[in-house]
Amino acid sequence: MSQHTHTDELFNLDLIHKYDKAGPRYTSYPTAPMFHSGIAADAYGESLKRAADNDAPLSLYMHIPFCDTVCYYCGCNKVVTKQRQRATQYVDTLLKEIDLLADAIGNKRTVSQLHWGGGTPTFLNETQIRTLVGRLRERFNFADDENGEFGIEIDPRECNADTVRILREVGFNRMSMGVQDFDPIVQKAVNRIQSKQETLEVLQQARARFPIHQY
Ligand SMILES: C[S@@+](CC[C@H](N)C(=O)[O-])C[C@H]1O[C@@H](n2cnc3c(N)ncnc32)[C@H](O)[C@@H]1O
Ligand code: SF4
Repeated sequence: MSQHTHTDELFNLDLIHKYDKAGPRYTSYPTAPMFHSGIAADAYGESLKRAADNDAPLSLYMHIPFCDTVCYYCGCNKVVTKQRQRATQYVDTLLKEIDLLADAIGNKRTVSQLHWGGGTPTFLNETQIRTLVGRLRERFNFADDENGEFGIEIDPRECNADTVRILREVGFNRMSMGVQDFDPIVQKAVNRIQSKQETLEVLQQARARFPIHQY
């Protein structure tokens, strides 16, 4: 039987206890628990050498950890801040990482998949987005738009018509949108206040600008 508290209408304690344990995240591979300090630099170097010798298509993932506010359910690796300038140093570090990786792997392999996840990738401004994608495209050999999947995770509260246009211009051709719930009571409970209007506007912009795939 459920435990009753004064927040009974918002939270089911039985369910919370049932799922209150660590599990792998679905968006990353290898999953987060696989990353640990036991993997030393030389092991990583060896693995990059193997990657350089391989001809198979390459998938690149870029994590943008910043979010303007926190959603209480969130299981992602994130930095919650209103200070946009915190992204500056992170972007500089990513540019170095892109160069190091490209130096190690070379550009023989075709990048058939790129994914930007978060956090909130569109926490970055237009210049930062263009600079990062520009460097990736300069250093790696990307598949064309027809053959590559270039995806980005969108928070509709951090995206407008201009953002969608810019993302398409730099070559993204897939986007996923975070919509946890349309019920205002649930939105308040999980601290994810997002109007239907905001969500629909981004959806309409995406439908207008992004390719539509039939599966
Ligand atoms: C990591 S977010 C990135 C995009 C953006 N920050 C957003 O929230 O829309 C991608 C998706 O993961 C979902 N998500 C985050 N934490 C989750 C969790 N613990 N369980 C299931 N989905 C989760 C978010 O709601 C969102 O739809
Ligand atoms: S905006 Fe996305 S990544 Fe950030 S806290 Fe909310 S669900 Fe997590």
